[in-house]
Amino acid sequence: MSSTNGRVAIVTGGARGIGAAVAGRLSADGFGVAVLDLDEEACAPVVRGITEAGGKALAVGVDVADEKAVKDAVARVAEQLGAPTVLVNNAGITRDNLLFKMSVDEWDSVMGVHLRGSFLMTRAVQRYMTEAGWGRIVSLSSTSALGNRGQVNYAAAKAGLQGFTKTLAIELGKFGVTANAIAPGFIETDMTVATAARMGVEFEQLKKAAVTQIPVGRTGTPDDIAHAVSFLVSEGAGFVSGQVLYVAGGPRG
Ligand code: NAI
Repeated sequence: MSSTNGRVAIVTGGARGIGAAVAGRLSADGFGVAVLDLDEEACAPVVRGITEAGGKALAVGVDVADEKAVKDAVARVAEQLGAPTVLVNNAGITRDNLLFKMSVDEWDSVMGVHLRGSFLMTRAVQRYMTEAGWGRIVSLSSTSALGNRGQVNYAAAKAGLQGFTKTLAIELGKFGVTANAIAPGFIETDMTVATAARMGVEFEQLKKAAVTQIPVGRTGTPDDIAHAVSFLVSEGAGFVSGQVLYVAGGPRG
């Protein structure tokens, strides 16, 4: 058995993009992986990829902002895959607009997925971690937490996740549970493709503009983030807690 001792990880928003890469990486690391996303069917390719590579995975459809659905989803993971002791709060959406045009719905939906969703998921999963005396929580923040034009809702939510993370670290540390946040810069996924479309520019053009501001001279990939998650949930990272790791190809924060 690997150093992960057959532990079970939950990855929200795991059907595509960063979440899919994290799910695959954690499976390769030896975790059983529950792939949670809005549509259970959409998780199937990720689960198939993991099982075909010899890993254990389960697809679960859930809206992380729905209290009852979260409770049921986490119970199902515990029953069908095992007690979850790793949680990656990755599900996310953007509803960009300048402040003066932003609707209450755009504000609420972003808060709902990122903040309410991470709260509900973490509250539901912490029980298994504290019972095991071991746990790892990683939440996806963003460089947008430092401020980004057109993202007053998203920036507030991503900054909120940093305070959430630091407080989890303080409350749960004595149970052997660490909590950290990863704040990615520009990562090539459907989310950044959609950003280009919304701005009316070609994706390659948006990437080129982003690269001029990134010291390592390239945009990020989902695997760049998966690698950082792999470290933070590892056994050896037990003394790293309450941190925000900027994974952005240069200094931030
Ligand atoms: P994506 O849009 O490719 O994937 C997000 C996934 O979350 C989708 O599969 C979607 O169905 C799922 N999701 C959305 N709302 C949900 C809900 N209520 N319940 C369950 N699942 C839900 O996005 P990407 O790029 O993979 O982003 C993943 C995370 O990383 C997000 O939290 C995002 O804010 C964050 N991030 C992404 C960056 C980027 O450049 N792509 C940069 C910084 C942070």
